[in-house]
Amino acid sequence: EAYREEISGLEINGPASLEEYRLKFLSTKGIVKSLFGEMRNIPADQKKEFGAVLNAFKQFAEEKYENWKQSLESQSDQGTVGVDYTLPGDPLPVGSRHPISLVRNEILSIFRRLGFSVAEGPEIEDDWHNFSALNLPENHPARDMQDTFYLSQNPDWLLRTHTSNVQIREMEKGKLPIRIVNPGRVYRNETISARAHCFFHQVEGLYIDEQVSFADLKQTLYFFVQELFGKDVKIRFRPSYFPFTEPSAEMDISCLLCNGKGCNVCKHTGWVEILGCGMVHPQVLENCGIDSNKYTGYAFGMGIERITMLKYQINDLRLFSVNDVRFLQQFTASI
Ligand code: PHE
Repeated sequence: EAYREEISGLEINGPASLEEYRLKFLSTKGIVKSLFGEMRNIPADQKKEFGAVLNAFKQFAEEKYENWKQSLESQSDQGTVGVDYTLPGDPLPVGSRHPISLVRNEILSIFRRLGFSVAEGPEIEDDWHNFSALNLPENHPARDMQDTFYLSQNPDWLLRTHTSNVQIREMEKGKLPIRIVNPGRVYRNETISARAHCFFHQVEGLYIDEQVSFADLKQTLYFFVQELFGKDVKIRFRPSYFPFTEPSAEMDISCLLCNGKGCNVCKHTGWVEILGCGMVHPQVLENCGIDSNKYTGYAFGMGIERITMLKYQINDLRLFSVNDVRFLQQFTASI
């Protein structure tokens, strides 16, 4: 009776306590077995009665064991049955491309469709490829147009101020015609503000062949801005000066924000400047060993930040480099 009570009071809450119970009561060295061992000490006339009590107790102990076992199994079954494998999985967060990369890729893909290929070059450059070969000899006043970071170890080395160095390197290879676009990071010692930074990104382009004209340049750039900003965009060219092109021009596009009505982006002029361009100066061709009587070419260069700001209506250039995820996450859908 005491054992019955003990068993009834047991709490079996897992496989470990069930096994403990089995060992204590039902195993070969368990209590049930040892009670049966007591049979030989029972007087013959009481054996029958004692046996009946024992058998009933054994059955009770075994039934208890089976019941517990079953309820434990069904509990763990429920655990597996409870998982619905058709539910959608936990979402994996997807990153986003940087807006500068998005716009760079878009610019490059437009020019690729026109037959341009992509060429890249070093960010640490020597004086020749960044300046002298581009018709900016030492002490040329136009060097002051771009405030340059020089390397303190050797003043002949600098951080390139534009990606035109890649154009020189391609021309020096001597394989003509040339039709390339050069994306890359450039550096200028400018005060950091909403409109300027000490580094930014450019895409420049160069086309050299026989009989390349300013009309080719205009039509190519017109196609380019229409692809980038839509068919309604207008362009205009203003005469300008670069030492490496002659004639030189700056190209404006009609302001997309106010449609000519006047806003802060176009400073109420209806036009925004987006690139510099011109016909490659004959001296630059000669500097790279190209016969300027036979070949002509055009070149252009634009800042990616400025175009990205226009395209996505971003008003502070510093947003591109502070890595604020609240800003960057807005471009997730644009991958
Ligand atoms: N290299 C010029 C700049 O960085 C841009 C440019 C390229 C202008 C080619 C004319 C022709 O400002």
